[in-house]
Amino acid sequence: MGETIYPVPSAWPADALVNDASYHAMYRQSVEQPDAFWRDQAKCIDWMRPFTRVKETSFDESDFGIAWFSDGTLNLSANALDRHLAERGDAIAILWEPDDPADAHRAISYRELHADVCRFANLLKAQGVQRGERVTIYLPMVPEAAVAMLACTRIGAIHSIVFAGFSPDALAGRITDCDSRIVLTADEGLRGGKHVPLKANVDEALAHCPGVERVIMLRRTGADVSMVEGRDIDWHMAVAAQSDDCPAEEMNAEDPLFILYTSGSTGKPKGVLHTTGGYAVWAAVTHRYVFDYRPGQIYWCAADIGWVTGHSYVVYGPLMNGATTVMFEGVPNFPDPSRFWQIVDKFGVEIFYGAPTALRALMREGDDWVTKTSRKTLRLLGSVGEPINPEAWEWYHKVVGEGRCPIVDTWWQTETGGVMISPLPGATALKPGSATRPFFGVQPALVDNDGVVIEGAGDGCLVITDSWPGQMRTVWGDHARFFQTYFTTFKGRYFTGDGCRRDADGYYWITGRIDDVINVSGHRMGTAEIESALVAHPKVAEAAVVGMPHDIKGQGIYAFVTTNAEVEPDEALRKELVQWVRHEIGPIATPDVIQFAPSLPKTRSGKIMRRILRKIGENDVSNLGDTSTLADPAVVDHLLAHRPLLA
Ligand code: PRX
Repeated sequence: MGETIYPVPSAWPADALVNDASYHAMYRQSVEQPDAFWRDQAKCIDWMRPFTRVKETSFDESDFGIAWFSDGTLNLSANALDRHLAERGDAIAILWEPDDPADAHRAISYRELHADVCRFANLLKAQGVQRGERVTIYLPMVPEAAVAMLACTRIGAIHSIVFAGFSPDALAGRITDCDSRIVLTADEGLRGGKHVPLKANVDEALAHCPGVERVIMLRRTGADVSMVEGRDIDWHMAVAAQSDDCPAEEMNAEDPLFILYTSGSTGKPKGVLHTTGGYAVWAAVTHRYVFDYRPGQIYWCAADIGWVTGHSYVVYGPLMNGATTVMFEGVPNFPDPSRFWQIVDKFGVEIFYGAPTALRALMREGDDWVTKTSRKTLRLLGSVGEPINPEAWEWYHKVVGEGRCPIVDTWWQTETGGVMISPLPGATALKPGSATRPFFGVQPALVDNDGVVIEGAGDGCLVITDSWPGQMRTVWGDHARFFQTYFTTFKGRYFTGDGCRRDADGYYWITGRIDDVINVSGHRMGTAEIESALVAHPKVAEAAVVGMPHDIKGQGIYAFVTTNAEVEPDEALRKELVQWVRHEIGPIATPDVIQFAPSLPKTRSGKIMRRILRKIGENDVSNLGDTSTLADPAVVDHLLAHRPLLA
């Protein structure tokens, strides 16, 4: 098949931070002399005490350890705010667009944001929040969410943001795991005109979290919510009394910065821990080079702060680089599918970074919604979170970007802190659907199932062979799980969980997860989590969840459910289970298909043969592979005969 290649537009290389020649030179230095390279790059942020050590890392069991810049000190909040005050204090740091276009937007300067952050940091201190303490943030996409993050990092508290779409149960689990004493929330969130009962969710969660002493609640919609005397306080009232002067704590580079829970193939979500220095350098450097960013440019990453993309590329990366970062409260199709592009025109957005799932949904609505807007300010587009299919890529390029804007398809993970494989707009010729080449310091490799390295073009499991500054340092509270999850599948290498192909030009094509993780609308979910939610229902005996192809979401959720013997499964139960999962985890985990099955295909030793279920989910049933080890092959025939009709 002929491949389309889009060369770097001719105007870019002369002006870009990196062109093809400098990419190769810089990449070579980054892997051959990492200390020299990163010593230099780390100058892009301010250090309180300069580091002398750079890379001290090993992925081997005998001397396993990851530390970067370990004798340096710094503060991330000061890097995002204070360092800009002298030169660009009046420049806009955050441009906030509300859910309803009829409501006023907000433009917050670096000076104002600095004052807001200091006041809120002082409020946290007044509440007794200490260095190293965990603060749970359950807020919608409002500027106060960024204020809360930066206030935590200012005083050395560790924030743990829980996506505001998660259920009370999911929230409670995360609060308990990291032992938070304090929770920040809002009365309600507002998305696409719908009210999300955040405070009520917190109240429900806290019934299971006896350790929480304080809830600070922002009034967003003014809804009538209950306040628990002695526990809950009003954000604005409490903050008003605070001084806007709060010195930034001097943090060691390896001091914990934040925890973000993410799903893996087994067990409960794990608290991915990032530390201060390496993460700061990684977020700043990747943001600068991947987006070819210069201070003053209007930049919009349409991710939620509840995900890592929101951490690194709505808040920390852009603010460290002195950006004007757009923060959008709403959704792409409300009030209509022009919303994104109207915001681009309203603010003069130059760089837009979004998710394939939103693009596919908008593409389906037709081009008019896009073409009736101007978009003349756009110069660069980005994609993140899941593989972008070439059709959506072409549409993004032709229709949204009018053929003039390069697309940076950025592959990375919560664990990696920032972008790992991506084009650089002034350096890399593009191939639709490929994340192209590794970023500086990233050494990807493909291995087969036995861990044998595949050279040249080929297909395999994607591993990273050496450390990079933005790498996660541990799983909160479970260092053994960190090592076990990432460094034992292929000894001495970081295992990403993704499958990948490398072509003859050395370009990487991510093919998706090869573990029991599915990616639904760019949201990562462990099938085990959905299964345990299902089996928690009193009528369910057993459940197995797999991914299924989905036109808009990328992957959908296909659940096989065996009910208890006395239960007759019917449509009502199906609906009940869908609601149940939404309540247990959140709407993002809504099953697309529930197939009731009298039993699941198992080996004679009682292990569910997920491979067969995956094939059924993928509607690829012509060759189910070897089924001779099944305890009862008739189970599969039953599953095949009773597959629900898929739209
Ligand atoms: O499977 C890959 C997919 O998303 C996973 C990471 O999910 P999460 O930790 O939630 O972080 C998402 C935002 C970085 C990866 O293991 N993924 C992410 N970006 C891409 C991608 N798959 C293909 N192409 C991408 N650009």
